[in-house]
Amino acid sequence: MDQGSGVKILGLHMSPREKGSSALLLERFSEGAKRAGASVEILSVSKLDIRGCAECGKCNETGACVFVDDDMAAVYSAWETATRIVVATPVFFYDMPSQGKAILDRSQAFWSRRYMLNQNKEGVPGAKGFLLACGATKGKDLFVPVTLAVKYLFDSIAFPKTFPVLSFRQIETPDKFTAGQLEEAEKAGCEFARQ
Ligand SMILES: Cc1cc2nc3c(=O)[nH]c(=O)nc-3n(C[C@H](O)[C@H](O)[C@H](O)COP(=O)(O)O)c2cc1C
Repeated sequence: MDQGSGVKILGLHMSPREKGSSALLLERFSEGAKRAGASVEILSVSKLDIRGCAECGKCNETGACVFVDDDMAAVYSAWETATRIVVATPVFFYDMPSQGKAILDRSQAFWSRRYMLNQNKEGVPGAKGFLLACGATKGKDLFVPVTLAVKYLFDSIAFPKTFPVLSFRQIETPDKFTAGQLEEAEKAGCEFARQ
């Protein structure tokens, strides 16, 4: 193992299935990152209770969400400190699972800080994002919606809008990954930690 790159990575797992396909992808990515000396903290929607955005508009004035009593608090505090984020998501109806989408929608408070209140304009120094995605079918555009959604999530939290995407089609369950695909995820995690 590399001796302590010191990099801290936040893994955001967007599937309600705790031990499903995207969880395995994230696990192997994290193993690679840890081998390169990084530490990885994972927040999974399978363990979080987060309601959707009410579109009340208050965050446009304050930069903060009116809902303060659910698990989005943990995500907001991660948005304040993270410099490396890997999002791992399956595709549900060509999009992200609703539990993950709630995180995106509630991140509107951070979008408001940047674009209504003129804060965080310069971006998080050295920030880097990564997207892992999988789906059961093989449509050409299968990962277009989740890639765009994550692009605008990253923009809201002052991360770069360009980031690597590692995606796998025809994965209905974790056992469908080939050993080579999982090695690819591990290698990507290792490289992400070394950047
Ligand atoms: C509600 C639901 C909707 C889905 N919609 C799609 C879809 O639109 N396209 C696709 O390729 N797979 C779809 N799938 C399959 C999942 O993407 C696939 O099983 C994936 O491996 C699940 O990952 P997970 O175990 O991390 O949740 C859907 C699965 C569910 C439960």
